[in-house]
Amino acid sequence: MEVRLQKVIAASGLASRRKAEEWIAQGRVTINGKIVRELGTRIDPERDHVKVDGRHLKAVEPYAYLLLNKPKGIVSTLNDPEGRPTIEHLLHGVTLRMFPVGRLDFDTEGLMLLTNHGELAQALLHPRYHVAKVYLAKVKGVLTDDEIDQLAQGVNLEDGMTAPSTVKKVRKAKENSWLEVTIYEGRKHQVKRMFEAVGHPVLKLKRIRFGPLALGDLLPGEFRYLTDREANTLRGIFQYKQEQEAAGIPPRPIRPQKPVRQAPAGQSARSGERSVRSGGQPTRFPGKPAHPSREPARRPRRPTDSARRPPRRIRRTA
Ligand code: URA
Repeated sequence: MEVRLQKVIAASGLASRRKAEEWIAQGRVTINGKIVRELGTRIDPERDHVKVDGRHLKAVEPYAYLLLNKPKGIVSTLNDPEGRPTIEHLLHGVTLRMFPVGRLDFDTEGLMLLTNHGELAQALLHPRYHVAKVYLAKVKGVLTDDEIDQLAQGVNLEDGMTAPSTVKKVRKAKENSWLEVTIYEGRKHQVKRMFEAVGHPVLKLKRIRFGPLALGDLLPGEFRYLTDREANTLRGIFQYKQEQEAAGIPPRPIRPQKPVRQAPAGQSARSGERSVRSGGQPTRFPGKPAHPSREPARRPRRPTDSARRPPRRIRRTA
């Protein structure tokens, strides 16, 4: 897989991308012994030898980020001791070793992020980062407003109270209903246990957002690489939170949101931009039946995670 030269230099940790561009323009970088000054030059990090000022760049893989729509009936890890099909079986043509960021239950479908950027993955999973995860849940029965309030404020599970969440009614079927729930933690079976706690077991569960990423119109079993914009947003969140942590600024508490009593008004159906690396198209699998319930996608313009915003300044008056 070919990657831009400055990206490879930056990924090695030697310099920022801008600095790497300066070095290239100054003729300090060689590929296979030849000086290159062209910024658009692409190389294959596995095949080409890059030197800066005559020194070999250590062999590094570029960071890659991939968004998968995990179907039901697939294990969300790369291998399964019980021999069930795993997400690895879906990653056709992916040569880099990518790891899932978190898990989904066997019978849950939806958005999974995979990456080889270990530090970023760990940070996104860490409870202090409060990354928003949005699920569509079909539950048994119809929740009362009180039950929705309970979920929004936190329910007592065997491993403690849940942090505040946002719960919106989406639609009501004859006996069951669909809700959209946003949580900021990642406990095992959390959404199912939350609804169970208020007496409405989950019948179907689908994750439609993870932080700033939206599932969009990817069909179950399909994946695509993140667009540069999406990847930069993720890295931005990671960097911002690392800086906050380094500065000793505690994460802002998760506050209960006002419950929304009616279905969210018409969600736009625009899909995210396609990555050049995925050939502009999601990877589809031959013979895969069309899925009837394509999720309306919202273009991830900026992180939904409120903690991304710098804390509001309070102006003191004398
Ligand atoms: N909550 C659950 O209960 N299951 C999932 O797969 C994800 C969140």
